[in-house]
Amino acid sequence: MPSGCTLSVKSLGRFTDNLCVNEREALGIRISRAVGLPPLPHVTVQVMRLIDDPRASTRDFERVITQDAALASKVLRMANSAYYGGNGRIATVSRAIAVLGLNTIRTIVMALTFHAMVHARQRKTRFNRQEYWKHSLATAIASKVLARLKRSKWDEEVFLAGLLHDIGKLIADQFLPEEMEVFISRCAEITSSTVDEILDLEARVLGATHPELGAFAAEKWKLPAALHAAIAYHHQPTRVEGELFEPVALVHAANCLVHQAEIGVLIPGMTCEMSPVVKEFLAIPEEQYEPIRLVVTKEVIEAQSAFGVT
Ligand SMILES: [Fe+2]
Ligand SMILES: [Fe+2]
Repeated sequence: MPSGCTLSVKSLGRFTDNLCVNEREALGIRISRAVGLPPLPHVTVQVMRLIDDPRASTRDFERVITQDAALASKVLRMANSAYYGGNGRIATVSRAIAVLGLNTIRTIVMALTFHAMVHARQRKTRFNRQEYWKHSLATAIASKVLARLKRSKWDEEVFLAGLLHDIGKLIADQFLPEEMEVFISRCAEITSSTVDEILDLEARVLGATHPELGAFAAEKWKLPAALHAAIAYHHQPTRVEGELFEPVALVHAANCLVHQAEIGVLIPGMTCEMSPVVKEFLAIPEEQYEPIRLVVTKEVIEAQSAFGVT
């Protein structure tokens, strides 16, 4: 999928394949209206833009981040955490950029933005944001662990993609509260289910699946293509061809591992099977999956304390 590609109603997926063209279009319009998403914070957009600008200097990044004092202090706290390895020695934003590199700084800024969105004060719903945050963070970490094992060039992108992969659930909770309430009640009645069954239930109750809702947000926020693809296809990785298959496959596998390790459980009893195509692509011997799950569990604890959440 090319950068900036729009996940048009035509590509909403097999969960809407039984709908006629007009019905699909109507669904697309309804979702676009329902998803009255706020824009990303100005600082986040500026940091993302600077990453894509080959002329941008460290000074430019420093200037943008320090515009927001609260963000700058959070960036420093993260940079100094055990997870990012600064160990209290990094005193300025420019030093953080020099030590950690621009890609990591972008990841930290985006991760802080997402953390603030998840923990924003709002009316109480039955959607468990604490478990959701834990699941997202664990998927980010597992994606990065797998990327390192695979020596993938996508290691920073998949961390963010893992963090944001289920953003559609947060959107449903925020913008379709009544439908989400029904969905959560229906899930509570089910004792065991597969991912496909849950996606079908979402399509029927919410009018769209969480990857579809997430894809609308990715498009609106103009997220990079790897993030957009992982959000839209983490449950259908084989639908992605070309170089974006790798980041999507990593996030898909990470999501399954995290479900299997039961870190941040939102739907008890839901099984998540790794696609055989992705398994073959990763080529990780079966006996290595257990140590990987243990590494992820340990890193989640470190990362939670980096965000100031335990
Ligand atoms: Fe998902
Ligand atoms: Fe997930």
